[in-house]
Amino acid sequence: MSFARVDGVLHAESVALPRLAAAVGTPFYVYSADRIRAQLGALGAALEGIPHRIHFAMKANACRGVLEVVRAAGAGVDVVSGGELDRARRAGFGPTDILFGGVGKQAHELREALAGGIKLINVESPAELALVAEIAAALGVVAPVGLRVNPEVDVENAHRFIATGEKGHKFGIPIGEAFAAGRAALASPHLRLVGLDMHVGSQLLSLEAYRHGAARLVELGRALRDAGAPLAYLDVGGGLPVRYRDEAAPDLPAYAAIVGEAAAALGVSLLLEPGRFVVADAGMLVTRVLYRKGNGGRTTLVCDAGMTELVRPSRYDAYHHIEPVLDGVGEEVADVVGPVCETGDFLALKRALPVVPEGALLAVHAAGAYGSVMASQYNARPKAPEVLVDGARWAEVTTRETYDDLARHDVATPVWRDD
Ligand code: LLP
Repeated sequence: MSFARVDGVLHAESVALPRLAAAVGTPFYVYSADRIRAQLGALGAALEGIPHRIHFAMKANACRGVLEVVRAAGAGVDVVSGGELDRARRAGFGPTDILFGGVGKQAHELREALAGGIKLINVESPAELALVAEIAAALGVVAPVGLRVNPEVDVENAHRFIATGEKGHKFGIPIGEAFAAGRAALASPHLRLVGLDMHVGSQLLSLEAYRHGAARLVELGRALRDAGAPLAYLDVGGGLPVRYRDEAAPDLPAYAAIVGEAAAALGVSLLLEPGRFVVADAGMLVTRVLYRKGNGGRTTLVCDAGMTELVRPSRYDAYHHIEPVLDGVGEEVADVVGPVCETGDFLALKRALPVVPEGALLAVHAAGAYGSVMASQYNARPKAPEVLVDGARWAEVTTRETYDDLARHDVATPVWRDD
């Protein structure tokens, strides 16, 4: 159970959303622990019989409370920065729980990963491979590396900004150069080439990119194994879609068959990095309507959340379903906008909604992935708190930022230098 209307009031599991709004104020994010467990469980069930581990892509949601639910459910994490690595460790993930990916890892981040121990670093270029070897040598360790390969396949997904596996994209080592990069890894005593990796895109609307990409990785894996690579993992990245509007739910058995067969063909264990699928519809953004106004024939609901809390509508033209927390009356077409001083600050435009009064609470659906993590302080707006619900219990797991937080790094009296 995640979100449902009980006696006309929208609930997160067994907790009424107005109760949370009264306690923590608005806007706020709310997550259902049960839904996170259910999504991880559904994916795990589809993969039953296939040696695998799910590493939640914490770029989708790095809330400490959410990470602890993920960890308790037995999954690991995929991190893409030193900051995420640190957050993962604070949430209790151990070295074998963590994969490190990302196209622009810095030397200090690689050092932090190797010094603390890590399951796998997915390397995205020959230059990065050389840097990892250099740092591993200095630390006196052998770095477990995977090659993130760009399989150069056609990607059918929701938005061009989140397709990653087509020719020319900045990610990974182009498929035609991957064997040479693998040979370079095998030649270094400081590297152990244990994995091959791809991530072809996010919110993938077809399984074909997985199928074609995995086939290319299997072919590469066979060649590298013949060259002596001790391959242990095939990492197929993230990308499973969720239903924002009327998209088809992902066909998990078909997905599992494609990626499972690829791992079996190489005789390795499968790694998965789902982000959105695990948390998107486990989260809602709850906002209050501050003002109703008419603008040139349009009805505008000015809310206390906007692009600073959830940037996806303005950034990717993303659709997020919105409904009043209490039953509304009738229907109208309205723009649901935030308080930020930009016309691009909206949660929905020309949206049919029940008519609600000023002061009403609105719930923005499927905001658990790439919501709070992409929030900004633009217009000096403190970040909204995050609440975790588990059955009849709830906890504020991230508190609202304060004005002091916003000013924390100000240097009120600059120390001028001329050196
Ligand atoms: N692994 C890698 C290497 C990735 O780059 C990503 C997402 C994932 C896993 C997780 O993908 P997922 O399962 O969530 O599709 N901000 C955008 C999405 C950016 C995705 C970036 N990479 C949005 O709001 O739609």
